[in-house]
Amino acid sequence: MVACADYNIRDLSLAPGGRLKIQWAAAHMPVLNRIRDELAPTRPFAGQRVAICLHLEAKTAYLAKILKECGAEVAITGSNPLSTQDDVAAALVEDGLHVYAYRGCSMEDYRRLIGQALSIRPTLVIDDGGDLVNMLHSDRRDLARGVIGGCEETTTGILRLRAMDRDGALLFPMIAVNDAYCKYLFDNRYGTGQSVWDGIIRTTNLVVAGKVVVVAGYGWCGKGVAMRAKGLGARVIICEVNPIRALEARMDGHDVMRLSDAARMGDIFITVTGCKDVIRREHFLVMKDGAILANAGHFDVEISVADLRAISDSCRLVRNNIEEFVLADIAGGPKRLYLLGEGRLVNLACADGHPAEIMDMSFALQFLSLDYLVREGSNLEDRLYSVPEDIDFRVARLKLAAEGISIDSLTPDQERYIENVD
Ligand code: ADE
Repeated sequence: MVACADYNIRDLSLAPGGRLKIQWAAAHMPVLNRIRDELAPTRPFAGQRVAICLHLEAKTAYLAKILKECGAEVAITGSNPLSTQDDVAAALVEDGLHVYAYRGCSMEDYRRLIGQALSIRPTLVIDDGGDLVNMLHSDRRDLARGVIGGCEETTTGILRLRAMDRDGALLFPMIAVNDAYCKYLFDNRYGTGQSVWDGIIRTTNLVVAGKVVVVAGYGWCGKGVAMRAKGLGARVIICEVNPIRALEARMDGHDVMRLSDAARMGDIFITVTGCKDVIRREHFLVMKDGAILANAGHFDVEISVADLRAISDSCRLVRNNIEEFVLADIAGGPKRLYLLGEGRLVNLACADGHPAEIMDMSFALQFLSLDYLVREGSNLEDRLYSVPEDIDFRVARLKLAAEGISIDSLTPDQERYIENVD
C-alpha cells in the first residue's frame, strides 16, 4: 500500500473485491490497453495533476490507474451519490490514488468530496455531468488558472458547457468527449441500451417480454433503451418533445404519443431526456397499479420524487433498490408504484454501468483528449472544443483491430475521384 494517498472512502478493507473487479474490466478494454502499452513508457502525464469526477466503478478505476501509470498524480471523486462502488474506491487507494467517494453520500457530502478532489490543484480535469467544472467556475475559481483544460463525458455536461461557452464564461478549454462519434454512437446507444436493462432486470427480477415500456426521450440513449426493450419482447411507446425525433421513433417502429396518454398504459417507465419533472403528479395519478419507474438521465430530476412522495400515503423499501409508494385514496382503488434506485440513473445506481468493451472506447477518447491537451492546451482558447477527428478515427481503428476486423481503403484513383467530386 502506498502511504501518501489521501482518501475519504467507506472501508479500505473492501479493496480485494474491488481489485478483482478492476482486473476483469481491464481484461475487456483492449483499446485502452493498447494505448497504455504505447504511451506509458514515455510518461506523457509526468508532472500533471488530474482531478476526475466520474462514476467510480471498475472501468473508471482502470482509466485512473492508467493515467497514474503514465505519470500523473490522480485524485478521483464520484459523479453521482449512488454510483460509487466502495470496493473499487478502496482498491484505488491501495494503488496510491487520492480517492474521495462513497456510495450513498448526502448531497452536501457529495459536493464536499468534489472539493476534496480539487485540493490536488489540478492541471487537467475529467468531468461527467459538469459538477466539478462548475465548482471550478464558482467556489474554487482560484484554482481555475492552473487548469490546462478538461474533458466532459456526458450530454448533460455538454449542455452546461455550451451555455458557458456562449456566455464567454469558460476559464479554461474543455473538450466535448460526448460528441465524438466513438462516444455517442456506441456508449450512448449500445452502452445505455444494455446497461439500463441490466439495472432494471437485475433489480426487479421480472420479465420484460409482453410488457408496455414507455421511454421518455429519443436521443441516442433513448434510442438504445427502446431498441433493447423491443428486442426483449416489449411493446415500446416513445414520448418526445422534438418532432423530428418523434418521427424517427415512429419510423423505427415504435408507438409515439403524449406522456399523459402513455401514463395510463405503461408497465415500465424510463426517463432519458435530460430535463426535469418529465414524469410528475398528473402522470402518477393515472398510472396502473404496479407500474415501475426508472430514470436513465444524468440527474435525479426527471421523475418528480417530490410529487410522488406528496401524493403517497406510505413508502417502504420492498427489495434492494426498490421503493414502493402506495397511493391509497385514488379513483380506481389503491395502487402501488415502484421507484428504482431513488430515481437516480438506474444503470449505475442499480448495476455496474456500461459494459467494459463500450467504456473502453469512451475512456480511450478521454485519455487521448487529455494527452492532446497536454501537448496543445497552451494554443487553445477558453472555449468548448470537439475531440480532434484523428483521435476519434484512431479509437475506431484500434477497436476494429481489437475485434480482428479489417476494412477496405480507397485506391489512389478512388481518392482522386472523391476529392474532385463536389
Ligand atoms: N461507467 C463509468 N462512467 C459511466 C457512464 N457515464 N455511463 C455508464 N457507465 C459508466
